Amino acid sequence: MIARVTGSRSFPPGFLWANATAAHQVEGNNTNSDWWAFERQQGRIHGGDVSGLAVDHYNRYREDFALLRKQRNNSHRLSIEWSRVEPSRGEFDSRQLRHYRDVLGELREQGLSPMLTLHHFSNPLWFAAKGGWAAPGAHEVFLPFVRRVVEELGDLVSLWVTINEPNIYATQGWIFGSWPPGRRNDIRGLWRVLGNLRLGHEAAYQAIKERLPDAAVGLAHNKFWLVPARPGNPLDRVAAQTGHRMMDFWPVAGRRMLRTVAASSDFIGLNHYSGRLVRFDPLRPGSQFVRQLNPPGYPVSDFGDAVKPDWMRDALLDLKQFSKPVYVTESGIAAEDDELRQRFLPEVLGEVWAAIQKGVDVRGFYHWTSMDNFEWAHGYRMKFGMIAVDPKTLERTPKPSSALFARFAQANALPEAAE
Ligand code: FCB
Repeated sequence: MIARVTGSRSFPPGFLWANATAAHQVEGNNTNSDWWAFERQQGRIHGGDVSGLAVDHYNRYREDFALLRKQRNNSHRLSIEWSRVEPSRGEFDSRQLRHYRDVLGELREQGLSPMLTLHHFSNPLWFAAKGGWAAPGAHEVFLPFVRRVVEELGDLVSLWVTINEPNIYATQGWIFGSWPPGRRNDIRGLWRVLGNLRLGHEAAYQAIKERLPDAAVGLAHNKFWLVPARPGNPLDRVAAQTGHRMMDFWPVAGRRMLRTVAASSDFIGLNHYSGRLVRFDPLRPGSQFVRQLNPPGYPVSDFGDAVKPDWMRDALLDLKQFSKPVYVTESGIAAEDDELRQRFLPEVLGEVWAAIQKGVDVRGFYHWTSMDNFEWAHGYRMKFGMIAVDPKTLERTPKPSSALFARFAQANALPEAAE
C-alpha cells in the first residue's frame, strides 16, 4: 500500500522521478571492457571482487523495470556499453544493438522515458590498448559509436547524456590510479584526457543534434561541494575556491568547465553526493596545504561522506547562472542501513524543491541507484540501492526506501516539512 502524500511542496508538472545505473555496474559479463581486465589485476578492487555477473541486468531488465514502475518512476537513466556495441574498431555488433533496442523499448512500454548515457567510465579493450582517452584524437574514435547509436536507437531516446563525470573519471584513472588505466600523478595524462573528453562531448552533441534536433543533450558533471571550514578565514576561502576551480576546470578552453559545457548543452546534469569543509594547513604541503573535514554533527555514509543535504541546494543554486534546465543526474548515499536512506531522501528532495522555488529550472531527480550493484573499486561492499539483490540467487527485494520514493513520485510532491 502506498500512502498518499498530501502536502504543498509540489514539483512542477512532468517532473521526472527516476533512478540511474551504468551498464558495467549492473549488466554482467562485460568481458570486452577495460574494467573487466582491470578487475583481474591483484589488489585493484576491494576484497578481490570482480563485476562478474553483476546483477545480471542484461537478462533481467524486464523484471527490473517492472520494479521501477512499481516505484512510480517515470524515467530511467542507463548507459549503453560501447565495448559490446563496437567489439573491435569499426565493427558493430547488430545483435547487441538489437538488445539495446529491446531494453529501450521495454522501458518505454513500462512508462519510463529513457535517459541514455553514451560513456559511463568503461571503454572497449581495443580503445584502451591504444591509449584510451589520453591518446591524440580519442574523440574521433568515439564518434562512429555515437553516430551508430543515434542512427539505430535515436527514435527511442529524447534525453541524452554524452559523458559521465569527466573530472572524476580523469582523476581516478590518471591521478589516484584507482580506476583504469591505474596511472598515478600523471598530470599531463589528466590534461589530455579532460581535453579529449571535452571534444568528445562537443562532437557527440553535434552528432545527436544533427540527426535529432528536438533531443535534449547534456553532460553529467560531478560537483563535490567544498566549504571554508572557518568562513571568515581568507586562506580557507582560497582553499575552497581553488578546489571548486579544479573540479570545474576544462583545460582546452582554460575556463570553467561548466561554462564551456553549458555552451554546447541543452541542459546541465548534476551528480552531487557530498562535500567537505576545507581548512588551510601549513603542515600539509603534500595535500596542497589543505585539510578536508566532515562537518561535525551530521551522519556519515558508508563511504565516509557527511550526509548534509542542504549542499544539494547550494550546488543547484550555483548552476542558476547558466540559465539552462537542470537534471539531478545522480544523488544518493552508500548505506547498508536503509533508515539512513529513508531520512536522506525527503531531505535531499526538499532541497531540490527549495532550489526550484528559488528559480533553478530542475526537471528531474535520478536517484543513484535502483539496485545495489558493482561499485567500481569498492566492489559490492557499498550499497547505494533502494532494492537489495541477493548475491547468490540475485533475487530482488525492494527496501522500505523504495516505497517512500514511490509515495513522493506518485504525488509529485513532498509532505509538509514538519510531517
Ligand atoms: C558516481 C558514478 C556512479 C556511481 C556513484 C556512486 O561518481 O557516476 O557510477 O559509482 O558515483
